[in-house]
Amino acid sequence: MLDKKIEDMIVEQMNFEIHSAYIYLAMGAYCDSIDMPGFANWFKIQWEEEIYHSTRMYEYIVERGGRPILESIEAPQKEWSSLIDTFEKALIHEQEVTKRINSIMTEAVNLSDHATRSFFNWYIDEQVEEEATVDTIIKQLKMVKDSGHGLFMMDKEMGSRAFVKPTK
Ligand code: FEO
Repeated sequence: MLDKKIEDMIVEQMNFEIHSAYIYLAMGAYCDSIDMPGFANWFKIQWEEEIYHSTRMYEYIVERGGRPILESIEAPQKEWSSLIDTFEKALIHEQEVTKRINSIMTEAVNLSDHATRSFFNWYIDEQVEEEATVDTIIKQLKMVKDSGHGLFMMDKEMGSRAFVKPTK
């Protein structure tokens, strides 16, 4: 059985991951609206990843005898000023996710809940990757600036991203 406090924290995070998915789908729609289908693809894959993050928590809560409660999902931002703006906002969002995952981990350690600690190790590693990937894209966008050729090349590259369901 999960401790009630940690169960509530994981349920909240499960909902927050859906909120993340919603934000990224909205960013994808923005990229489609400015004729950047590759960047749109990247955000749509990110949306799929976030749904996976949420579903993985759902399954863990059930496995530990808890109940995943679905809450209302806040509407995401609708407009961004540029491609770089979307990624800068994505980085801020991922930093918030990292903070939340760390709090759950701290609680698991305090409660000596080794199963939850082990389960959340995956998210700790995932957050390092999430932040680093977005940070690299921001740096590349700064390098490219307003070069049409550079943006075209980057858009092609972003279009090749595919969702691969993790095996663990
Ligand atoms: Fe599920 Fe991007 O954190």
